[in-house]
Amino acid sequence: MAKRDFRLLVNGKTRNVTAEPDEPLLWVLRDRLGLKGTKFGCGAGMCGTCKVLVDGEAWPSCRLTVSAAARGQKILTIEGLGTPERLSAIQKAFVQHGAFGCGYCTAGMIVAATALLMRKRNPTRSEIIAAMDGNLCRCAAYPDILAAIEEVAASTEEIEPTA
Ligand code: FES
Ligand code: FES
Repeated sequence: MAKRDFRLLVNGKTRNVTAEPDEPLLWVLRDRLGLKGTKFGCGAGMCGTCKVLVDGEAWPSCRLTVSAAARGQKILTIEGLGTPERLSAIQKAFVQHGAFGCGYCTAGMIVAATALLMRKRNPTRSEIIAAMDGNLCRCAAYPDILAAIEEVAASTEEIEPTA
């Protein structure tokens, strides 16, 4: 398919890219925009590792084409949620709880948890588990991931991105 020019709104900035229309957003973010925090897992929308926020909803970027992502939606990647100097509340809680083994799934987990808490500020444990169902962790860090999200859910901390 012939390449075309697309305009994306990523982490608050307009980014122009040239890509094949059906190229997955995941590869555009990683290879063309250098946003390597979003990871490839299954490539089939099953593992949640590649999730990004699209107008506040967590979407697997492996299943979203660049042409579909270039319709004015606000895309936020893990880099747009917080910075090392100023972590978002959920990023901070993941660090404090050591909610990871290898860390490969962590960006997708934080994106999914952010989407949940932006939609519902104080979800119950079962609502958290249901919302995180599409995110897999091969290191089985689930208890610490749940504890981190529950801590933020029970707090009054701002959920909005701090980047
Ligand atoms: S890589 Fe996208 S859901 Fe697994
Ligand atoms: S921390 Fe290793 S896959 Fe989740």
